Amino acid sequence: MTGRARSFGRLAEDYDRLRPGYPPAALAAVAGDLVVDVGAGTGKLTAAVTRSGRRVVAVEPDPAMRSVLADRGLPGVEVVDGTAERVPVGTGTASAVVYGQSWHWADPVAAAAEARRVLVDDGVLLQLWNVPDLAVDWVRELNRIAGLPDVAPEVRRSELPGFGAGEVTRVRWEQTLGAPDLVRLFSTFSRVSTREPEDRERMLASIRSSVEGRAVVAYPYVCVGVMYRRS
Ligand SMILES: C[S@@+](CC[C@H](N)C(=O)[O-])C[C@H]1O[C@@H](n2cnc3c(N)ncnc32)[C@H](O)[C@@H]1O
Repeated sequence: MTGRARSFGRLAEDYDRLRPGYPPAALAAVAGDLVVDVGAGTGKLTAAVTRSGRRVVAVEPDPAMRSVLADRGLPGVEVVDGTAERVPVGTGTASAVVYGQSWHWADPVAAAAEARRVLVDDGVLLQLWNVPDLAVDWVRELNRIAGLPDVAPEVRRSELPGFGAGEVTRVRWEQTLGAPDLVRLFSTFSRVSTREPEDRERMLASIRSSVEGRAVVAYPYVCVGVMYRRS
């Protein structure tokens, strides 16, 4: 794992409080009883999956993130240490393997092989990303200030060995935040949190001044999903 991939744990509490969850429509492809959530972090996607009553094995390598997730005490959830490349789940047991904002941290070939191993015959691999809605001018401007990419990561990877063609879905939705929390939200992005302190503070000050005068912000996302069926 790279430095940025390991950067989340020290921000685990803020991450959990400020990062968005997932809209139910983005999980339409998830069926069956057992779901494996890989790179589960503090459980934002895990919580969304359990709302439909499914059992979840939440796999997360970072102990600080795992600890926040375990403390949530989500019903039907087993929290385990592991990675996308080494998923500690039995062969042919899961109906879906899901990755919320985490696929891009994995080695795609090794992760696809592991997902294929744990899935039942017609199981699905679902990757999700909450991407700021870049069609909105002020959102695009905040993204530019924070040095975040202006395309969804999945656009660059569309074929996985052992799976059929990826099907892309897009669900528009909003997260309502106080303006100071929107600034803190940006400080949880690895591209921001891993900057030199002075540089990071300058960047956050610039974001703060662009939302000045607004008490509450409806921050728009497109939840991009790529679903692959095991072949
Ligand atoms: C941006 S967070 C996403 C957390 C959560 N899924 C969510 O939707 O909020 C990315 C997570 O992936 C984890 N991660 C990094 N490299 C990983 C790997 N190779 N395998 C599995 N998880 C990894 C990090 O520790 C972090 O918790």
